[in-house]
Order: sequence, then C-alpha cells, then structure tokens
Amino acid sequence: MTFRIAQISDTHLSAEKPFFVGNFERTGEALRAVRPDLVLNSGDISLSGETKENDLSAARALHEAIGLPVRFLPGNHDLGDSPDLAAHGVITDERRSRYLAHFGADFWTLDVPGWRLLALNAQLLGSDLAAAADQEDAIVEAIASLGARKLALFLHMPLFDKSADEPAMTGRFVDPAPRRALLARLRTAPPALIASGHIHQYRDSWLDGARHVWAPSTGYVIPDRLQPIYGLKQVGFVEHRLEPDGRHESRLVQVPGMPTLNIADFPEAYGPI
Ligand SMILES: [Fe+2]
Ligand SMILES: [Fe+2]
Repeated sequence: MTFRIAQISDTHLSAEKPFFVGNFERTGEALRAVRPDLVLNSGDISLSGETKENDLSAARALHEAIGLPVRFLPGNHDLGDSPDLAAHGVITDERRSRYLAHFGADFWTLDVPGWRLLALNAQLLGSDLAAAADQEDAIVEAIASLGARKLALFLHMPLFDKSADEPAMTGRFVDPAPRRALLARLRTAPPALIASGHIHQYRDSWLDGARHVWAPSTGYVIPDRLQPIYGLKQVGFVEHRLEPDGRHESRLVQVPGMPTLNIADFPEAYGPI
C-alpha cells in the first residue's frame, strides 16, 4: 500500500502576529480533501517560537484543528539556530525543552511499508548540546537496523545547494563540517529521498544519487534582493508517495486560491527588510 506524506513547511504561525495563518488554514482544507497518511511539518512551524512560547502553543493548536495524523521536526525559528549560525539566537537546552513540550520528539523514525523515515533536528547538527550526541546515536541505530527498507531523510535545512563538498557557510544549508559527519554516518545506507524546508522555495533535484526535495513555505517567499533563486518561489506543499517496493514520487501541490505572500510586505513579522 502506498504511504502518502503531505510535507508542509515553514508555516511561521503565531496568534499574536497571524500573518500566515490564513494560508495555513487554506492548506489545512486542501489536506483534509486529500487525506494523506501523514502530515509532516519540516520546521519553522512557528513565527518566533525560539523566544515566544505562545507562538509554539498557537502553532500546535492550529495543527490539531486540521484533524489529521501529524508529526513535526524543528526549524531555527522554533528552538534557535546551530551555534555557528546565531541569526535567531542559538539552540539551548531550555529552548529545546519548550519545543519538546509542545511538539514531541525533535528526532525520530517511523517505519512504513518498504521505508524508514528518519527525521532529524538540523539545529543539533554541529551543536555541543548533549542531545546532539543522542541524535548521533539515533542515526547510527536507524542505519544499523534498516534491513531492506529504503531510507527517507527529513530535516529542516537542505544539506547543500549543488554539491556535498561546497565550502560556503550560508545559513541556508547544513554547514560543511556537520554535513560531512552526517553523510559519513549515512554512507552505508544512503537515503533515497532527502526532504527539507527552510529556503521557502520548491526544488526537486537528483544529486549524488539521491533525490533532494525542498518543500516550499505554506506562507511566504523571500525577495530576490535578499535571497537567490534556487528553485521556485511559490507557496504550497509537497506530496511524497512511498511505495512498498522502494519506488517513490514527490510533487509540488499548489493550493487553489492561496496567495504567494512576500515577507517584505510584513515588516511586523521580523522587522523591516
Ligand atoms: Fe522558514
Ligand atoms: Fe528556517
């Protein structure tokens, strides 16, 4: 039986600053119409949850209102950035605990016919928190017990733009050192599918033998003067279809009537840009 995942991402939800709630609710209606087996939010669930717990609780309540099975993984706006990317404040045990209280485990596996989903907390990659070592152990265990299943990796940040060797530290992709460490751990069981968010652009590419799918934001895009065009600046979500025999398909779903908002038009969200 095909397992269908609706990957939503970068919903940036808040009750106090509900700029992107309308788009989220439209997405929720579209999800209820297609009833995926799992809704997976790949991070930046909340607008400013790293500092405002209200944003975390509001975001969780909005997901509950969809009424479908849902799982989460954290983004930088939910619990802070990796230590070398302090733009939104660094991940701490306290911030992480708040996230866990609202959304459950920040790294996890789920087995479905023919596949194992491995969801990671990208902000722990390269972190010196004790939880980073726990996540490393979980990756090793997930690989060791994989068996004949295919592996689908989900994490907030894409691993890289064009190549695993690229040296740039941009804040857009996993940094070179933790990327190397992660890929080394995955060497014996390279993921067939690597799905991410964070860039607020949709992109679907085959790189180094894996399919890399970037889910767009459900809420907004970032203007060209601040961010290059890597793929498609368009809101929506991604449907992944995982087949028991290991085949898979991913596609962008555009929600009818849902506007592609631009963060430049919402200076109250993160300040004028
Ligand atoms: Fe985001
Ligand atoms: Fe992000």
